Amino acid sequence: MEVMRHENIDKILALCGGCRSCGTCHIHIDPAMMGNMPPMSSDEDELLERSLHRNPYSRLSCQIPFDEKVNGLRVTIAQEGSK
Ligand code: FES
Repeated sequence: MEVMRHENIDKILALCGGCRSCGTCHIHIDPAMMGNMPPMSSDEDELLERSLHRNPYSRLSCQIPFDEKVNGLRVTIAQEGSK
């Protein structure tokens, strides 16, 4: 999330600043890279469950550390919309 904000990708709102309370940093991960992602916490799971656009590749970008495991990662910013 911080990397996308730093690059001025304005479609990533990240309104809570990474406090895992807004869900506006929702992304879809490249399926080939899902195995490199850290486990999802129950809080992240609950927040994503509110989204109309959740799929098996959904994650909150603020919960993904920027390290060598995400080298080359492609993501799609999820559409907005909650249940
Ligand atoms: S920035 Fe709010 S949940 Fe990720």
